[in-house]
Amino acid sequence: MPKLRTVVVVAGAAMLVRRAMRHRIQASPLWPIPALENPTSGRPRSRALRLLVASRETVADGVVQLRLEGRDLPRWEPGAHLDLVLPSGLVRQYSLCGDPEDTSSYTVATRLIEDGRGGSREVHEQVAEGMELEVRGPRNRFPLVDAPSYVFVVGGIGITPVLPMLRALPGGTPWRLVYGGRTRASMPFLEEIEKLGGDRVTVVAEDEDGLPDLDGLLADTAEGAAVYCCGPEGLIAAMEARFPQVRLERFTPHTSADGNGAFEVELRRSGRTLTVPADSTVLAAVRAELPNTAYSCEQGFCGTCQQRILEGEVEHRDELLTDAERADSMLICVSRARSERLVLDM
Ligand code: FES
Repeated sequence: MPKLRTVVVVAGAAMLVRRAMRHRIQASPLWPIPALENPTSGRPRSRALRLLVASRETVADGVVQLRLEGRDLPRWEPGAHLDLVLPSGLVRQYSLCGDPEDTSSYTVATRLIEDGRGGSREVHEQVAEGMELEVRGPRNRFPLVDAPSYVFVVGGIGITPVLPMLRALPGGTPWRLVYGGRTRASMPFLEEIEKLGGDRVTVVAEDEDGLPDLDGLLADTAEGAAVYCCGPEGLIAAMEARFPQVRLERFTPHTSADGNGAFEVELRRSGRTLTVPADSTVLAAVRAELPNTAYSCEQGFCGTCQQRILEGEVEHRDELLTDAERADSMLICVSRARSERLVLDM
């Protein structure tokens, strides 16, 4: 009899746990996620951590720095970034700009983008000390390589991944930094950087100096130097034109939604066919029909919107998927059709 009672208690507890889990999943902003018959991702998602916002500080005009505390945090290398899950469920990427040796906290900084897509505004207006935030990562697409010398060209908040690199370079390593911004007051970490680099740092504040003269400033770049650039698209394009080998960190997707004209997308499992206009994305068209389609960054960074391709040729515009993944899947927030029609397993 006692055995029977134990079985009943255990079964009851298991049922309650299952019910609680189901409620939790259904409360998620990602619910319901359209299920794939054969899930294609296979991409290991980073372990999610819940960290405490231990401090929130304004470090320049329009720039807020967050220190997120935890314990035994995964280590990172200069250039790495975190995925921050904001209270609304939006996921945004922010470069780590603190001390890589500190395993009890991560530090990120974010600039308020007035006409952005809402992530920076949410950080600035809703994230407060004492809150908990979910983070994923760190991941590094912008590592510091071994090189005889270094040139860094950054614009504004683009300084964040570069700052830990400058701190990490061994003394005596030749490096120089061109740091541009709208005004000196809007440029975070300026004091530390000028102290760290002395005359290796050229600060170009647009309201005092205009735009940086890249040709003049970089004319003596040594052969073999590792060239890094992080900043707005205009600066990145200018650097790519001058240094094809430049290592880049983008805040925005490589290409805009515009591209190769309109095309059709058939959603085979849903039995619908949509037109994706030249100036929009597959994700936008799909969400007009299936509003619960999962997505997050809309920049080809997070992988949330990955979908399986059944037919058609894709122009992949993300920087995330491997070649193997690209063979049969795409990130519908940025990638487009190369053929007139795509068929997706949705
Ligand atoms: S929504 Fe993040 S990759 Fe598409």
